[in-house]
Amino acid sequence: MNLPALLGGEPVRRRPFPAWPVFDAREEQLALEVLRSGQWWRYTLGETLSETHADPTAAPSKVAEFQQKFAAAHGCRYGIACVNGTAALEVALRAMGIGPGDEVIVPPYTFIATATAPMLIGATPVFCDIQLDTFNLDPARLEAAITPRTRAIVPVHFAGLAADLEPILSIAARHSLPVLEDAAHAHGGAWNAQPLGSLGAAATFSFQASKNMTAGEGGIITTNDPALAEHCESLVWVGRKTGRPWYEHHRLGWNYRLTEFQAAILLAQLERLPAQTALRQQNGARLAQLLREIPGIVPLAAPAYATGHAWHIFVFRFLADQFGLSRARFLEALAAEGIPASSGYAHPLYRNPLFAAPGLPLDYSQFVDLCPASEQACAEAVWLEHRLLLGTPEDMDDIAAAIAKIHQHRAALTKD
Ligand SMILES: Cc1ncc(COP(=O)(O)O)c(C=O)c1O
Repeated sequence: MNLPALLGGEPVRRRPFPAWPVFDAREEQLALEVLRSGQWWRYTLGETLSETHADPTAAPSKVAEFQQKFAAAHGCRYGIACVNGTAALEVALRAMGIGPGDEVIVPPYTFIATATAPMLIGATPVFCDIQLDTFNLDPARLEAAITPRTRAIVPVHFAGLAADLEPILSIAARHSLPVLEDAAHAHGGAWNAQPLGSLGAAATFSFQASKNMTAGEGGIITTNDPALAEHCESLVWVGRKTGRPWYEHHRLGWNYRLTEFQAAILLAQLERLPAQTALRQQNGARLAQLLREIPGIVPLAAPAYATGHAWHIFVFRFLADQFGLSRARFLEALAAEGIPASSGYAHPLYRNPLFAAPGLPLDYSQFVDLCPASEQACAEAVWLEHRLLLGTPEDMDDIAAAIAKIHQHRAALTKD
């Protein structure tokens, strides 16, 4: 009998999984075009709204082209590119009029930026727990988190799985609150056959290195609201205004512009996104089906409304009691079998030292009791990176075989 690799047996895999990022001659070609044009910086604002260029002799802006194509691919008229997904959240929230004294509802099971973006513009994040079966914002708990100071709701499409938007949007409408989709994980995803990123008042995406499209760093805001788009673009452009003199600054803005090099890389990444998303979907569905057969392994749910999973992360809950092994030991054994995985967020956001600092408008320790599902998610989650889903069906079978093998040998692994 083949022993677990951790106990000296042959690992299920020695071959590596696909590397990330994926790139080829297309990225090279577009990046070289920028290099050789000498036009390394997008030279004029306003393309977001008018799609015109101020200087007809200059090379067309790759940023402008990318904004237009990314927005269109995500069901939106406007895209405003910026330096990263955190900046995108800050800009979108500020353009919605949010500032000091205002509250923004966010889930606690997400990257820190979802909560710090409101703080960076003086607002207060208020945590609303997640659903344990999807790890997304729980609409059943949303209304209780709304106060007279609430100004926006920010659901995250965690791991690329659409948030439960129907009740979220209807609660938001009832309270006249805008919804900002944090779609940092959700490029190319869909909810009820509509693109993620087009369902709230605005949405934000990240192109940081780990994301499903990347230029190392980068971000974008998508919206169908022309006034909001103009405001966001102005904030990214140090408060300038389309059609107004260069040194006239109308708003307190940032220089959050994306470079032409990044846009060139992202144009190539966008071309590849549909095929990669389809492959992740096939492999994700196959792996989830295989893993559901193994005791103690619970892949996240696939609700009917999540018609297009972007599979940024393949997540399953690891129920240690049912599986018969601790999560730490399981991850050690899985790594030894040649399957890279992690336990994800170490704790819900409100447990970060940042939220224990003196002088905050809220006592964040209250959320330990208010967010039991987030606490449980942090204790049980196992994450596989999306690059694993860019492999073959046999690669998925290897992952499942490694987990089944560890389960079979759980007693020996516990003793060792
Ligand atoms: C859910 C979520 N929101 C926002 C961000 C922020 O994006 P960035 O790292 O590009 O600032 C991230 C990324 O890491 C994220 O995972």
